[in-house]
Parts: sequence; structure tokens; C-alpha cells
Amino acid sequence: MTMADRQGLAQDTGVAAAAAPAALPRHIAIIMDGNGRWATQRGLPRVEGHRRGVEALRRTLKAARDIGIEIVTVYSFSSENWSRPPAEVSALMGLLKRFIRNDLAELHEANVRVRIAGDRTALDPDIRALLVEAEALTARNLGQTLIVAFNYGSRQEIAAAARALAEEVARGERTPESITPEAIEARLNTAGIPDPDLVIRTSGEMRLSNFLMWQAAYAELVFQPVLWPDYGREALEEALAEYGRRERRYGGLAAGR
Ligand code: IPE
Ligand code: IPE
Ligand code: MG
Repeated sequence: MTMADRQGLAQDTGVAAAAAPAALPRHIAIIMDGNGRWATQRGLPRVEGHRRGVEALRRTLKAARDIGIEIVTVYSFSSENWSRPPAEVSALMGLLKRFIRNDLAELHEANVRVRIAGDRTALDPDIRALLVEAEALTARNLGQTLIVAFNYGSRQEIAAAARALAEEVARGERTPESITPEAIEARLNTAGIPDPDLVIRTSGEMRLSNFLMWQAAYAELVFQPVLWPDYGREALEEALAEYGRRERRYGGLAAGR
């Protein structure tokens, strides 16, 4: 039985809250960090850390599906990662291509809907074609949603939304007063996707690094010391347990106060 089933059962049978497993996040977003350090600690090239990072991603996605997480967003390449040595950048591009080529069929089989967030215009045409293929093939899948943030930057995303709205105002299609948080949300890469409930960052760094800054306004943040290539089911379950101990108040008061 998955955690989601257990949770459903607990609700159906009115089991006391204390006995029921803590609430599952609907959407988790992961900053997969520490590949380079993992490799360096072993005297390996950084690229080897990225390769092992893809294996950790497979394990973690499988675990998230088994547990019943509805939406998973992974930060794979930031707008700022272009500043790394060209060989590392091209290795990361190659790994994305290989991940889509090797894993797309299995993700589709598992009823996963794949979406890409980020600026594609700077990517090679062959990568862009693969991303389009992945989204088109899986568009109707109703199981899990996997959002791959690639060449993604939150500031760039928000600026693009502001620009699109400004253009609509300039064309006389909307008024400045109509620019609300909802109007901005609808123009983000994640339009229509509920906000992440939980943001996980591995490797002990405690920052967002330009990831989902709008969407994570009320997300619970969990920082884990484990380096990403060592991540998997056990570490994910620990993060979920930590999430379950948090109290989300959204600016209101704690229950019973
Ligand atoms: C995360 O690992 C993967 C990417 C940013 C693409 P890093 O490559 O940042 O690993 P560290 O932080 O140098 O250890
Ligand atoms: C964030 O990690 C980007 C990804 C995990 C893809 P970085 O390693 O690039 O972030 P900083 O430079 O430590 O903030
Ligand atoms: Mg890093």
C-alpha cells in the first residue's frame, strides 16, 4: 500500500490524526545539488557526478511515483549554469538528451506527463525537438506530472511574464489595474500547476539559487546534507517526514489558537 492509499484509508475510516501518517505534499520541487562535490570527493571528474545524478533522479522519481506524489519539479540546469566551463555545460546538455531518449518511453508507460520549464530559445535545435516530443507524447497522461526545469531562472520567468503583460497593456488589450498575482501566475512556465508544497535542496546549501521564487512563496523548505548522487527513496522519505512535522499557516494562526 502506498502512503497515499494509507492516507486515504485513514481519512475514510476516521482514524485519529495521531495514528494517521502526516499529510503528503501534492507538489515537491527538488534542487538537485552536490554532483560536483560527490565526484571531487572520490577523485572523479565532475561530469561523473552528473552522470550518477541522473541515476539518483531515476530512483527518486520512481520512489515519488510509488509514494503517490502528484507533481515533481526538478531543477536540472539554471540560467546561471552557463557560466560553468564549456565542457561541463555540454556534458549537462548531453545528459538531458540521453535522459529524454532513454527514459521517455518508461515515463510514458508509467502515465507521467512531462513538462519543461525554462527558456528553450538558447538550446540547440535537437534538444528543443526532444523536449517538444516529450511534452507531446505525454500530454494526455494523468498519472504524475514531472516538470524539468532546464535553463530555468525565476527572475527571467517573472520578467518574461511582466513583459507579456506590458505588451498587452500597450496594445490596449488590458488595463494596468488588471495585473494581479493571478494574471502573473497565468504567464509563468508553471501556469495551471499548483504551487510546490515542499522544496528540497540537497548538499547542505541553504538558498534557492533562482528557483521557483514566485511559486515557493509558502512552500516548506527542507535542506538535506546528502549529496544528490546519493539521493533516493530513503532520503525522500526523510524529507516527507520532516514536511509532515511542519505546520503551514499561510499568515494565519495555528490551529486551536
Ligand atoms: C548540481 O550539482 C547539478 C547542477 C547544478 C547542474 P553541482 O554541479 O552544482 O554540484 P556542486 O554544487 O558543485 O557540488
Ligand atoms: C542550483 O545549483 C542549480 C541546479 C541544481 C540545477 P547551483 O550549484 O548552480 O547553485 P549555486 O551556484 O550553488 O547557488
Ligand atoms: Mg551546486
